[in-house]
Amino acid sequence: MKTLWDKKAVKAEAEKKPEGNWFFRFTAEEDQALDRALVPYDIMVNLAQARMLHKSGVYGDNGLKKVLSALFMAWDHWTEGTFDLGPDDEDVHSAVEKYLTEQAGEDGARIHAGRSRNDQVLADMRLYLKDMSAAVAAEWFDIARRLEEIARKSAGVFFAGMTHTQPAMPHSADAWCAGYLDMLLSDLKSLQAATVALDRSPLGSAAGYGVPGIPVDREFLAEQLGFREVQTAVAAAQLSRGRMEMQWVDALFYGVHTFNRMASDVIFFMHPSLGLVTLSEDQVSGSSIMPQKRNPDAWELIRASSHELSAARSFLSGIAANLTSGYHRDLQLIKKSVMSAADRSLRVAEAVKHALSGLEFSRDGAQKSLCSEIYATHRANELVLGGMPFREAYRMTAGELEKAREINPGESSKVYKHSGAPGSGIPDSLVRNLDEIEKWFDSEMKNGEIVLQGLLTWPSGLEHTQ
Ligand code: ARG
Repeated sequence: MKTLWDKKAVKAEAEKKPEGNWFFRFTAEEDQALDRALVPYDIMVNLAQARMLHKSGVYGDNGLKKVLSALFMAWDHWTEGTFDLGPDDEDVHSAVEKYLTEQAGEDGARIHAGRSRNDQVLADMRLYLKDMSAAVAAEWFDIARRLEEIARKSAGVFFAGMTHTQPAMPHSADAWCAGYLDMLLSDLKSLQAATVALDRSPLGSAAGYGVPGIPVDREFLAEQLGFREVQTAVAAAQLSRGRMEMQWVDALFYGVHTFNRMASDVIFFMHPSLGLVTLSEDQVSGSSIMPQKRNPDAWELIRASSHELSAARSFLSGIAANLTSGYHRDLQLIKKSVMSAADRSLRVAEAVKHALSGLEFSRDGAQKSLCSEIYATHRANELVLGGMPFREAYRMTAGELEKAREINPGESSKVYKHSGAPGSGIPDSLVRNLDEIEKWFDSEMKNGEIVLQGLLTWPSGLEHTQ
């Protein structure tokens, strides 16, 4: 194998030994597989780099034409599924550079002027993460819509709310949905903040110390790639590798954690002794020995998945710790953990979306759960309204719990004199906030498409015939 950096072909020589190139296997083999997900982003970064080198005079018109044609071809290969990393390519950056050199000769070989693979990988990953944010957010908005639908369909369904898993006070299907919608809104805000935080171009920082001599137009690179701004302090680019990813995985973790709590509720609610919800057949499994079983496997895996994200968070918090400034190969391991967190989050969100579509509150089961004790606080508060101090009303109600039975469950929701109570539907402010943040993610996605179209278009004034 010929690496970009092997000055004396030492590594190629090593391959002739019986054990082969253990160094490549250990340092690059696994990472190379992950780099396949970065191919489109690396091509984009190269498209911006070629234009920047033209602007700063490294490429003339002809050089730029040749390199852009080769990159457009690489893009087509990628979309057709025929651009792949060869066994000899150490990483996606080497693979694209090799392709360019094969297709555009010496001009292709000039592409690496003014950069390092160390800022290149940061740019690739940040573009990848921006796309993943949009993909995860889209799933979470679908889930929000499912919750709104359940709330609408189950208006007027009241059941026993629990604390300590013991009957507590009346709860309702719409209040249950509103609770999770509120959590999801806060998770979306975390994802938005993490997305903004990583939306900074590291290009031009190279290995953490900038680029001597070559006029790298960092602002132009950032603008071409649609980054919000340049991460100007060159040392910060490598210092923030791992930290930005950690903030992002944290946001995913919050979402999956919300689904973990939701899963616990659903599994509890569907228990035959409660029967508060029914689950569609496509989301339950049977037992190989007990013919009667209907098991909520999907929700159990949803519940357990939050621990995977939790592990990724803790891995990321460790990986960049203790490192001195500048690039270290340790940082490469971040990629695997971030990509599998993204993959797990998308799988979980898809499962939640489908499972919620087949979830229904049972009016019967809900009605049966409304034991009289859950109106004890209603009764005590009635006495308070009649002028009795609360502590006395509390003691009196506890001594004659049967009186709570006199409260009509149907009327119970009408006594609330504050917003957000069970039975009051989804709060308007919640719907408004969700709509607003959805617009933000939509416009991010549209901007991303515009940026890509711009990169894949011939620069004006440049003939596209060679
Ligand atoms: N695969 C490497 C990573 O993710 C790319 C940068 C390689 N740089 C180096 N000096 N070996 O970190």
